[in-house]
Amino acid sequence: MKIGFLTSGGDCQGLNAALRGVAKTLFGAVPYVEIYGIEDGYKGLIDCKWRKMEQYEFSGILREGGTILGTSRQPFRTIRDLEDDSTEDRLTTMVRNYHNECLDALVILGGNGTHKTAYALSQHGINIVTLPKTIDNDIYGTDYSFGFDSAVAKATDVLDTLHSTAAAHGRIFVCELMGRKAGWVALYAGLAGGADVILIPEIPYTLDSVLEVIEKRNHSGKNFSIIAIAEGAFTKEMASHPKKERRAGDISPGMELVRELEEQLNQDVRLVIPGHFQRGGDPTPTDRVFCSRLGAMAGELVLKRKFGYMVALQGLSIGAVPLSEVAGKLKTIPSDCEVLKQARLLGISLGE
Ligand code: F6P
Repeated sequence: MKIGFLTSGGDCQGLNAALRGVAKTLFGAVPYVEIYGIEDGYKGLIDCKWRKMEQYEFSGILREGGTILGTSRQPFRTIRDLEDDSTEDRLTTMVRNYHNECLDALVILGGNGTHKTAYALSQHGINIVTLPKTIDNDIYGTDYSFGFDSAVAKATDVLDTLHSTAAAHGRIFVCELMGRKAGWVALYAGLAGGADVILIPEIPYTLDSVLEVIEKRNHSGKNFSIIAIAEGAFTKEMASHPKKERRAGDISPGMELVRELEEQLNQDVRLVIPGHFQRGGDPTPTDRVFCSRLGAMAGELVLKRKFGYMVALQGLSIGAVPLSEVAGKLKTIPSDCEVLKQARLLGISLGE
């Protein structure tokens, strides 16, 4: 068996742990398996950049961040484009390269964009098994994606750390967390890090509601407040505008909120943007276990030649979801999500 591995899209913690999980399962079961590491995601498949990997290369990587294969973003909208002087589109090139290399299957680790391309490849007859990767936790068909727990841990660490300096100066801290389309990281880190306000793209907010929380806290003698805002959050007023017009120039939602709070309050307001800090470093133990389980399941599917699936967390079990059910869908926070209800019960403002 000749299997190609690739990691695509933005990196996150746990990619190496997941690769190791698949490799260990395959090498353990069939002595004649050959694994080809494809470099930098789909780019490597387009440019024929791969190499045969040895078993030892998957050792000692369980806790390492990043990806030993490298990654890149190849937006789905471009895979049907012709490359410079080429006469075929990228999808056709990938299919041709796969067959020329006589690969039996691809194991693909990626997020939403990656899944669209994976599904398109599988519709062209390529044998594929995918694993759900993204700190955003917005992949449809799985309860969690790997990287999410680790990113929440990083973001929580930031929020925890801000408490003492916020309290010392009696300041408002706005912490802008990753999540353009879905607010899972902000919601979970906000809860774990004791944020007073959590603003997410799924619930447009009003400035008045944020001011009300700050004023209430000030009156009760708590002269500091912590606001977790997802990078995709926007105001109710902006909700009626087309997406592209919701923000002026390079102003991020955190910057915008800080500017507006400064205009209204006689109190220091500071902005913290942890950015890619949330995606770097070691995976948490929970993510390591999760990635290992997903990896084992992905390996098992390959061995059984059950292709066209994404391995997924379904309740407490690892299952498999057809790519046709995953591709092109987004898992945002549903309005009836229990966590939202419980956050409200805890007195956390969601900016409504
Ligand atoms: O998709 C994961 C993610 O980290 C998002 O949360 C964030 O908006 C985006 O990637 C950042 O992308 P890049 O690493 O390309 O700047």
